[in-house]
Amino acid sequence: MRSQRSETGTDIYRAKELLEQGELVAIPTETVYGLAANAFDTEAALRIFEAKRRPSFDPLIVHTNSLEKARQFLLNLPKEAQQLAEAFWPGPLTLLLPKNDKIPDVVTSGLPSVAVRIPRHPLSLKLLEQLDFPLAAPSANPFGYISPTTAAHVADQLGDQVPYILDGGPCEVGVESTIIGFEESKTIVYRLGGMSVEDLEPYCRQIELMPYSSSNPQAPGQLKSHYAPRIPVLIGNIEEMLRQYRKEEVAVLSFRDFYPEVKQFTLSPSGDLNEAAQNLFKALRELDKLQVGYILAERVPDYGLGRAINDRLSRAAAR
Ligand code: TXA
Ligand code: MG
Repeated sequence: MRSQRSETGTDIYRAKELLEQGELVAIPTETVYGLAANAFDTEAALRIFEAKRRPSFDPLIVHTNSLEKARQFLLNLPKEAQQLAEAFWPGPLTLLLPKNDKIPDVVTSGLPSVAVRIPRHPLSLKLLEQLDFPLAAPSANPFGYISPTTAAHVADQLGDQVPYILDGGPCEVGVESTIIGFEESKTIVYRLGGMSVEDLEPYCRQIELMPYSSSNPQAPGQLKSHYAPRIPVLIGNIEEMLRQYRKEEVAVLSFRDFYPEVKQFTLSPSGDLNEAAQNLFKALRELDKLQVGYILAERVPDYGLGRAINDRLSRAAAR
């Protein structure tokens, strides 16, 4: 375990140098910050698991900056996957695809497919362009906690684990990528995320949502209790819940409404689901610092990014 504090900056050459030495670097993406290492290097990838205290059965997403580079570590690229990649990369969409030996088994936890995406953040794209290997990067938070959407969030929790944090400002999307895989006759959504199902539909055969298959988690982001703050989260009708608890013992996480006399975070006063997604993890982190017994939250409309928000809220509430 390391103990020195990390440095935060915007120097992609410093980031490149460290990554080439097999070190960890936190990188900004449009979804959340990632904890990155050389995806072709077993030792480097193992450092990610160690720093996050992530169980070795939970595989990593591999980031690259072009489809051409991705092909170098894939066995093949199904037609449907290629069309989705062309339509939505760079962007918040992760595809599960058959890998070749260039990707070591630790990265995929022994699975034959690798999760791949091209992120949309300009700084990370520039960094990836400079590298001759892809970057394995899960979200840069300790395992099971809320994902980071600013460089400061990363420094708060992994500051003594990662030598350099590449600061790309607050994340534009704010929830993790949508993960999909391909089966013979259908496309499966394993994690709801920053790319809405409605946007994917025209490009896919039959879509099946499977974000909760807990018996055999294909994507352990499917683990039910995840993204969990320290303070218990209760989901329901906020007004009703406020009648059951004393105002001092709760904090409210509302979609658009303001509640007098309580500590609260409103995700989007104008009712914009994209803005709500941007604010979600910051809100949970801020509320989690308060001295209260419960966070009272409500679901948001269940379409567009609202589905991903509701998914994260239920996981934050699962114990
Ligand atoms: O937006 C994102 O996807 C962010 C940024 C940094 O790119 N990354 C992210 O990574 O959310 P992580 O590790 O926190 O979540 C990745 C999820 C995990 O639940 C993992 O189990 C699943 O992807 N996954 C990764 N590789 C997989 C594979 N080969 N097969 C099935 N699931 C996989
Ligand atoms: Mg994560």
